[in-house]
Amino acid sequence: MNQRIVIPIADARTRLALPEGEPAADGSDRRGRRLRDLRISVTDRCNFRCTYCMPKEIFDSNYAFLPQADLLSFEEITRLARIFHARGVEKVRITGGEPLLRRHIERLIEMLAGIGTLDLTLTTNGSLLSKKARALKSAGLNRITVSLDSLDDATFRAMNDADYPVARVLEGIDAAATAGLAPIKVNMVVKRGVNDHHIVPMARHFRAAGHILRFIEFMDVGSTNGWRMNDVVPSAEVVARISADMPLVPVDRHYSGEVAERWRYADGSGEIGVISSVTQAFCSDCTRARISTEGKLYTCLFANAGHDLRSMLRDGTSDEVISHRIAQVWGSRTDNYSEIRTEATARERKVEMSYIGG
Ligand code: GTP
Ligand code: 5AD
Ligand code: SF4
Ligand code: SF4
Repeated sequence: MNQRIVIPIADARTRLALPEGEPAADGSDRRGRRLRDLRISVTDRCNFRCTYCMPKEIFDSNYAFLPQADLLSFEEITRLARIFHARGVEKVRITGGEPLLRRHIERLIEMLAGIGTLDLTLTTNGSLLSKKARALKSAGLNRITVSLDSLDDATFRAMNDADYPVARVLEGIDAAATAGLAPIKVNMVVKRGVNDHHIVPMARHFRAAGHILRFIEFMDVGSTNGWRMNDVVPSAEVVARISADMPLVPVDRHYSGEVAERWRYADGSGEIGVISSVTQAFCSDCTRARISTEGKLYTCLFANAGHDLRSMLRDGTSDEVISHRIAQVWGSRTDNYSEIRTEATARERKVEMSYIGG
């Protein structure tokens, strides 16, 4: 129960020995991992300045956000998603920045929904959800994940650093529920001394509301968020704190490669998840690729460089050749950052999460 799937070592070694750039016949990477999930960032902009993601001192009025012409168009995104789907991708998550800031995002959802059987979802800060939930559902979005770090207004305003109130995010979550974007998941990034005293109140609130709350260990994404190990609250501690009040029992994961470890309330009143990238790395079954806002393919959230696909989309390259390029990049992949993270690697230069998508 709750075991991460581990690739047999002999198997992984054989794959690591393949020549560089040589895709494995079964489409897996050099550690034997298939490509199943695609996360597409549709904007590098956000109306929040969460201290752990887009610190205000860095992401200020001088920050060089991407110009509109550099962004992939909806047609380009849909074409890529279709190619990835043909390569076995089953889930597409739209991310950002704040994806609902991208104009006519529901049009993109409609185009992606036309591809076929895909689990189509989106991660948002919820600020525009009251306005957009119904249109997103009608366009074909299956479900949604909303970020919310506290129910306490002062704490939340300080963490989003945009003075944005809790009540408006809760309204957005209600609108999503009314629209039928289910199940709704709520992401809470936990930082010691900042919002960890809100773990139990958040759990109690979302148990009553019937949504799945997930606690995310604060990560060293990007190069600007001043990450320190001391700020991380290990998921084991989160589970222990909630369990002391509302007993929890572990639940089998839904599918291999699921990011969150699931726990349910012993009295049957719902479930939570914990995402433990720092204390219990899940790289061994990481099946996720990311497309940045300007069309670069990244094989790890903690990478410092991506592989340009946009130029191929714009110079008449065929789907077949683009698909082969994706297979080459994925086939060469050895990423396992969370397994090798130290305070020193945390200081290395990496792309920002607002650019690559969460
Ligand atoms: P579903 O299972 O489809 O609901 O999605 P998910 O569990 O992948 O959830 P979501 O996409 O909301 O991811 C939650 C958070 O987990 C992200 O915002 C990241 O903070 C973190 N996360 C997701 N994928 C990875 C990953 O590949 N590596 C690391 N280190 N963190 C990840
Ligand atoms: N550590 C953990 N999670 C983060 N997120 C953004 N930055 C970090 C970080 N440094 C989360 C957000 C959101 C998702 C897109 O990623 O809270 O839920
Ligand atoms: Fe915006 Fe999400 Fe980053 Fe917060 S975590 S600044 S809401 S992209
Ligand atoms: Fe995947 Fe990289 Fe996250 Fe590991 S650190 S789970 S390889 S994205």
